Amino acid sequence: MASNKNILFLPGDGIGPEVMAEVRRILDWLESKRAVGFDINEGLVGGASYDAHGTPLTDDTLDAAMNADAVMFGAVGGPKWDDLDFSLKPERGLLKLRKEMDLFANLRPAIVFEALAEASTLKKEIVAGLDIMIVRELTGGIYFGEPRGIERLADGTRRGVNTQVYTTPEIERVARVGFELAAKRNKRVCSAEKANVMESGILWREDVQRIHDEEYPEIELTHMYADNAAMQLVRDPKQFDVIVTDNLFGDILSDEAAMLTGSLGMLPSASLGAADEMGQRRALYEPVHGSAPDITGQGLANPLACVLSLAMMLRYSFDLAGEADLIESAVSNVLSGGLRTADIMQPGKAKVSTSVMGDALIRELDKIGA
Ligand code: IPM
Ligand code: MG
Repeated sequence: MASNKNILFLPGDGIGPEVMAEVRRILDWLESKRAVGFDINEGLVGGASYDAHGTPLTDDTLDAAMNADAVMFGAVGGPKWDDLDFSLKPERGLLKLRKEMDLFANLRPAIVFEALAEASTLKKEIVAGLDIMIVRELTGGIYFGEPRGIERLADGTRRGVNTQVYTTPEIERVARVGFELAAKRNKRVCSAEKANVMESGILWREDVQRIHDEEYPEIELTHMYADNAAMQLVRDPKQFDVIVTDNLFGDILSDEAAMLTGSLGMLPSASLGAADEMGQRRALYEPVHGSAPDITGQGLANPLACVLSLAMMLRYSFDLAGEADLIESAVSNVLSGGLRTADIMQPGKAKVSTSVMGDALIRELDKIGA
């Protein structure tokens, strides 16, 4: 057996621990039925870490994340911590992990499972068969740009400032990730920015075009203003293959793309750093949905986004494409069998809890992969 893969579990807040529990069961299944070994450590992040240690991310947890082969992340945040100082908010724990681990490429696939084509608020023919990948820049742009802050002006009013800033190397490295992914898919990249309004958008467009011309001429590259991309995503999402965009536009476009699939509860993500000499990347996997405090603790959460994030981990961090395929097939089959958590419930289907969905996945894995 190959050496164990070291995973740090950070369940976080709200429904994070509930959906991560189902992922844990699938890892156990893989260990017992497929002879892959995992060493799993667990830590606190977000509000849970704040409650225990007074900070949303301790240095020890950050250290463990830096040294893990991969991090599996649940969700952070909730009304309990709304009044905390900005620097102590649960979200800061996640943003610090992204920044310190230098996870600049955020992969957010939006795939419509056959069985869910009718769960979307869009017409079935618009979304059926959809399979797009959003690559969001994750460690730059307005999320981290300086100067930032809120200041009081001489007249007593206040002024809030954030800075959108990108350098050529930041743009180039995320563009390459987009082109590499497209090369393994339908060979089309659409880059989204606001070059009509922002200088950083002009630089973005020029740098992406140059990397294309010099390194990936065989890929079809188009450019779109981000507002138009938002509109095109609901008008005709299947025109896209890979979308490469900045941190803020990617945040917005990926929520929009998630809804094409029927539910935010279906969307996984991978956040990747640069490859080292061995081809290894720092990596963090998380469902795109948040902590959903309104449904926490009621068994209502959809574990599938988190389970699909595990499949991405197996594929991108551990080169276990077969196991990743297996998990994705199990998800697809369970949905075809008619089981639904509340968020994707449809007439005539069986509404199940988080853990019953987990039971069904394990049964399906036994059937197709043991
Ligand atoms: C996401 C979330 C985060 C973001 C929040 C929780 C900080 O919305 O991962 O999309 O804005 O990046
Ligand atoms: Mg978001």
